[in-house]
Amino acid sequence: MTSPLRRPLIAGNWKMNLTLVQSVELARAVKDGVAAAAGETAVCVPFTSIAAVAGVLKGSSVRLGGQDCFWEASGAFTGEVSTGMLVDAGCQMVILGHSERRKLFNDTDETVNKKLAAALKAGLTPIVCIGETLEERETQKTWRVLETQLAGGLQGFAPADLSKVVIAYEPVWAIGTGKTASPAQAQEAHLFVRGQLEKLYGKAFALGVRVLYGGSVTAENVDTLMAQPDVDGALVGGASLKKDSFLRIMGFATA
Ligand code: 13P
Repeated sequence: MTSPLRRPLIAGNWKMNLTLVQSVELARAVKDGVAAAAGETAVCVPFTSIAAVAGVLKGSSVRLGGQDCFWEASGAFTGEVSTGMLVDAGCQMVILGHSERRKLFNDTDETVNKKLAAALKAGLTPIVCIGETLEERETQKTWRVLETQLAGGLQGFAPADLSKVVIAYEPVWAIGTGKTASPAQAQEAHLFVRGQLEKLYGKAFALGVRVLYGGSVTAENVDTLMAQPDVDGALVGGASLKKDSFLRIMGFATA
């Protein structure tokens, strides 16, 4: 179980799924079920659904997030969405540097770092994603990858600036594959991440940062993952799209 310093967070990442009507319906179910949640709950929804979902979640404790942002405030950046726009539409959070964005849309540690600055300036809680590919794991590069992504993504801030930051460890080989990291593998990586955060920003900071696990989290495996001392929550893809599975994950039990 996570330290009492860190409130567990279960965040759904809906990715590029759901129509407006479906988004509203699922958001309503999450809102109705949040009283039974074991920690904090969030949904990170497609841009087109943000405003409608914000309306549904109004007055509830469910947090709302975008799945990416651009670092400029406004201007001629066709197709992009600023952090101010996310706040305006009702978001409190934003996912940054998801591996799908790194792989398919050229996000790098440098652009993640710029997006992070913009997110923090706008008062958003950033969920910064890191994680190794299968090839990197098999060639013993996991720790180097995590170290580089953390140092690059978070560089140039003081610990106080980063107090809201959430890290999501998402091994790429576990995303959408049904191949979850074992609880021991997740714990080992989370402990390493916390150690790196301590090197970068000190012990007090590292002890307070929430590190989520992502990659094929389901209603069946959430409890054993959440029982690990350095797993402070989950970033959930596929299983967040179904009401029953997400509600069960929100209500994880570690005892
Ligand atoms: P899955 O839960 O579908 O494996 O996706 C994980 C993920 O990428 C969350 O951001």
